[in-house]
Amino acid sequence: MKISVIPKPVMMETENNVFTITKEMKLNYISEDAVKAVNYLNSKFHFVRAKDKSGAKINFLADKKIEREGEYNLQIGSDGIEISANDESGFFYAVQTLLQLMPVEVFDPKFKAEKKYDVPFVKINDYPRFEYRGMHLDVCRHFMPVEFVKKYIDYLAMHKMNKFHWHLTEDQGWRIEIKKYPKLTQISAFRDGTVIGHSRDEPKKYDNIKHGGFYTQEQIKDVIKYAEERCITIIPEIELPGHSVAALAAYPQFACTDGSFEVEKNWGVFDDVYCAGKEGTFTFLTDILTEVIELFPSKYIHIGGDECPKTQWKVCPDCQAKIKKEKLKDEHELQSYFIKRIEKFLISKNRQLIGWDEILEGGLAPEATVMSWRGTKGGIAAANDNHNVIMTPTSHCYFDYYQDEKSKEPLAIGGYLPLEKVYSYDPLPSELPKEKHKYILGAQGNVWTEYMKTPEHVEYMVFPRIDAMSEVTWTPVKNKNYEEFKTRLETQLERYKLMGINYSKSHYTAKLKGK
Ligand code: ACM
Ligand code: ZN
Repeated sequence: MKISVIPKPVMMETENNVFTITKEMKLNYISEDAVKAVNYLNSKFHFVRAKDKSGAKINFLADKKIEREGEYNLQIGSDGIEISANDESGFFYAVQTLLQLMPVEVFDPKFKAEKKYDVPFVKINDYPRFEYRGMHLDVCRHFMPVEFVKKYIDYLAMHKMNKFHWHLTEDQGWRIEIKKYPKLTQISAFRDGTVIGHSRDEPKKYDNIKHGGFYTQEQIKDVIKYAEERCITIIPEIELPGHSVAALAAYPQFACTDGSFEVEKNWGVFDDVYCAGKEGTFTFLTDILTEVIELFPSKYIHIGGDECPKTQWKVCPDCQAKIKKEKLKDEHELQSYFIKRIEKFLISKNRQLIGWDEILEGGLAPEATVMSWRGTKGGIAAANDNHNVIMTPTSHCYFDYYQDEKSKEPLAIGGYLPLEKVYSYDPLPSELPKEKHKYILGAQGNVWTEYMKTPEHVEYMVFPRIDAMSEVTWTPVKNKNYEEFKTRLETQLERYKLMGINYSKSHYTAKLKGK
């Protein structure tokens, strides 16, 4: 029997025999920690709960000796299926593995448990390599409907990922309802058109089609609950001080100049950013973050911090006065002052700040976690300085890059990141001393949607690179082998076909070092 579990488990022994699941079987659990796992399994099956262990062929057992978060044991033999874990995610991941041991048809959304389903005899002990296993989604460059965001969360769950980084604000659109500032959704959530072709193309042409959308707080609560049921934490990102033109279009008083702004129609990095000199900016942003914190239970709040040009700050009297008053050396220290103020606010609310690696410039906020994207240098510096780090270098984690030769692929932002290269990634940099490894929390695939107008295109860019990323973040290095991964991937692609996922086949032709 062909076995295809992705991400590959830590330890798996198999026997040439099968146990047959029938829909009449009963399951049993005592620990409340198993409820999410049982519910997920029963979204496909409808196993009734037995009165006790002896009446059940599928047993979820609490094992207090298990210390790792997410660890589980899964044993299938002639007596049935036994799962043990010591936390919700452990049980949940065991169910993900169990589903992948079943015939692929269980992944068909129309699947109804009516027949008998063979699963191989196995003995699995499994746990994640990293505590942070994430995927990011930019819903600002192109708005993605709630239904797709939920699907995306299911995709993460299937890959035993536990962090969904939801990029909610940008120059081209603001996507989260903030009750105190209604213009953020009335004005900032929509743009009057979108650049046609690549942002660098000349002359520039725009489609003049209004584009936008936003999530109400009620929808966001619903999505958070959906993610929680799948053991996934949603980390919201509210960009500051840069990538803020859409917000400034509605509230220009928080910019350096009096200029009127419109929600951007082109992609790029824009000079107009929040003014660091005006106190009102901080009131505005902390009001917004207050509502964000009330909505999102996540310990981490991402505040962006990337690509903030200092052009306006250099000539803004308010910013310059702030530099003087706070005895700052330059505009980089002003950015650091900005981030540190926001961090202080987050800490006062018992939250922790994550920022892109630019937050190192001018001095890192005391407790910040760094998301290293411009390579790994920022992450290494932060880890050496005893800061937590999430690795997302463009070189291995940017799923907006091409997967094969440009000429064979739909228009993308640039870059080259074939499946094999994602697979080869090790988030622990070889140059980082061993005692600092603990600061590397994990890694994440980033999905910027400038050139992805639809959910189908997002799927094309994400699949199957998400499979590679799931092994990067979950599987021990010694268990990884690209050729063997590709054989398991074949079965995974059959599942995707049934699920209606628009996955890419580029990996069949892409070269590791292509262009
Ligand atoms: C980024 O890609 N600007 C974080
Ligand atoms: Zn200013």
